[in-house]
Order: sequence, then structure tokens, then C-alpha cells
Amino acid sequence: MRIVLLGAPGSGKGTQSQRLVKRFGIPQISTGDLLRSAVARGTPLGVAAKQAMQAGKLVEDAIVLGMIRERLAEADAAQGFILDGFPRNLVQARALDEMLSELGRPLTHVVQLDVPYAELTRRISGRRNCPSCGAVYNIYSMPVGGQLHCSACDAKPPLVQRPDDNEATVVERLKVYESQTRPLIDYYAASGMLQFIDAQGDIDEITALLTHVLTAAPVEGVKVRRAGKKRKAKAKSKVKAKKKGKAKSKAKAKSKAKAKSKAKSKTNVKTKVKVRVKVKTKAKAKAKAKAKAKTKAKRAGRKTAKRRAKRPARKGRARR
Ligand code: AP5
Repeated sequence: MRIVLLGAPGSGKGTQSQRLVKRFGIPQISTGDLLRSAVARGTPLGVAAKQAMQAGKLVEDAIVLGMIRERLAEADAAQGFILDGFPRNLVQARALDEMLSELGRPLTHVVQLDVPYAELTRRISGRRNCPSCGAVYNIYSMPVGGQLHCSACDAKPPLVQRPDDNEATVVERLKVYESQTRPLIDYYAASGMLQFIDAQGDIDEITALLTHVLTAAPVEGVKVRRAGKKRKAKAKSKVKAKKKGKAKSKAKAKSKAKAKSKAKSKTNVKTKVKVRVKVKTKAKAKAKAKAKAKTKAKRAGRKTAKRRAKRPARKGRARR
């Protein structure tokens, strides 16, 4: 099994991964855990990642991809793996597909854990971890007055709170999830592999549901959703559209420019015709007026000639 668990911060990816490890005997590969360990050891990779993690931002793709490539090459990953917190964006998802196809071991399952926002923030604020074995606890589900120590370790070390589990960082992590990680739902829906489970409620029940989703076809009445045909089609076209987006917008701009120039030339022709018509009518009117004036003048000339012919010749005055 080569599994990707998707979900917002606090949706239970880590908790469920640890249980799947026991159930299926395949390793959990958590980029968050790998990065936290690098930060704690002060390695150059940890130093580079620390600032982004503290701010609730994603660590650079190049760093995370290098880390994943190394981890997937380890012997235990050959039998399968559970990816927890990776991929986190489309660049990482595409790179993972490439890596796995090079290895000839593509993903077999992608499951999205659905949890409402209010519940996510409550879970994160109550989360406590074992600094030794990494086991995840929550103060809200621990017995009241119980001691905050790891029950899985013999030394029973006191539990600690993650430095990025503070209110301000959680707000930023949820924002980053919405803008960069949520689009992966469409990416994997397009591949036909994606399944959703309602990850609220009893942790054991969710594990049972997840195990069922990973081992059998979904059964009616169980809270599992497959990405439906509509969603798949929509997601496929979205992914395609994104790929074609640039080409399309270029073509659109081209055809717009073409249409504009066509329209421009049309109006140019129209105005030219209009001007010509105007010039023609002006010349016509001028000629008409000239002809009119000519006939008027002719008539007037004839009249005076007639009058002169009628008038008797003037007698000359006798000179005294
Ligand atoms: P990461 O460690 O991956 O954190 P995350 O994705 O934000 O997820 P969380 O660990 O907060 O939550 P989870 O879903 O595992 O929930 P959990 O099981 O613990 O990443 C941390 C940082 O590292 C990132 O912000 C980023 O900077 C960097 N990073 C990591 N991967 C990266 C990548 N690929 N690219 C770039 N940067 C990367 O459960 C939460 C709490 O809820 C626990 O207390 C648990 O006990 C409790 N709980 C679980 N299930 C239930 C339930 N059903 N009911 C009640 N409580 C429950």
C-alpha cells in the first residue's frame, strides 16, 4: 500500500498514521516529523526550515522534496508507506508522481480526512506530544486530573506542546492549507483515487473506517465518500484548464486583439464612406445652385431686352 493522507492541520493524519503503521506494518513518513527532527538536531536543513515552520508557512519545496526522495529510497519504504503531511501543494504532488513512476511504485490510495474548522482549532490547542517516541495526545480526551506523561514510554517523559501550536501560527497554517493544500483534492479527484472520510468522533471508529476504506470497496451506509463522477470530471477539467490556462489566455488575448482591429477597420471604412458621401452631396448642391443662378440670370437678361424693345426711342432735346 502506498497511501497519502490528506487533511487540514489537526485533522488526525498523525494519529491515524501511527495506528495504520501497527495495522499494516508499513512506515509513516511525516514531513512535519522529519523537519522537526532536523530543527532539533540543528542540521543545515533544520536551520533553513525553522523560520518557515515557526511562522506557519510551508518550507521550501526543494528542501522537502530532497528529504522525501531520500526517505523513499530507504529499504522499509519498498513494502509501502503512509505519507502524512506530504504532498502539501501541487508542485509537490506532481514531483511525487514523477518520483514514484520512476520507481515503478505509484500511489494506491489517497484519503482526505474531513473535520470542521472549529474542531480543528480545539484539537490543535489541546495537542500534546511525547518528546521521546512522538506519540500524540490531547488534553481534552485525557482523564481529568490525569498526569501529562507519555504512557507508551518506560521513562514516562512529560508531554510537550509543539511550538507552532500557538493561536497565531495555527491561523496562518489553516490559511496556508486553504490556499495551497486544498487544491490537491481536485488534483487527486481527477486521478479517481481520492476517497473522503468524516474524521470526527471516536478515534478507534475512525481507524476502523479508514482501514475499511483502504482494504475494501466502500459499503453503503458507511460514512465514506468517493469523489463522484461530477467531481472527478470537474477536477479533471480544472487541472486541464490550469495547464491550458496560460495558452488559453494568450489565445483569448490574440482573438480579442483581432476582433478589436477588425472592428476598428470596419469603423474606418464606415467613416471613409460617410466622408465621401458628404463630399459628393456638397458638390452636387453647389452645382445645382450654380445652374439655378445661371437660369435666373438668363431670365433676367431676356426681360430687360424685351422692355428695351417696347420703349419708344428718345427724342433729342432742341437746342436753344
Ligand atoms: P505537520 O507536522 O505536518 O503539521 P500539520 O499538517 O499542520 O498537521 P498536524 O500535525 O498539526 O495535524 P494532524 O493532522 O497530524 O493531527 P494529529 O493527528 O496530530 O507540519 C508542521 C509544519 O512543518 C508545517 O506548518 C510546515 O511549516 C512544515 N511542513 C510539513 N510538511 C511540509 C511539506 N510537505 N511542505 C512544506 N512544509 C511542510 O491530531 C491533532 C490533535 O487532535 C491531537 O492532539 C490528537 O490527539 C487529536 N485527535 C486526533 N483525532 C481526533 C479525534 N477523532 N477526536 C478528537 N481528537 C482527535
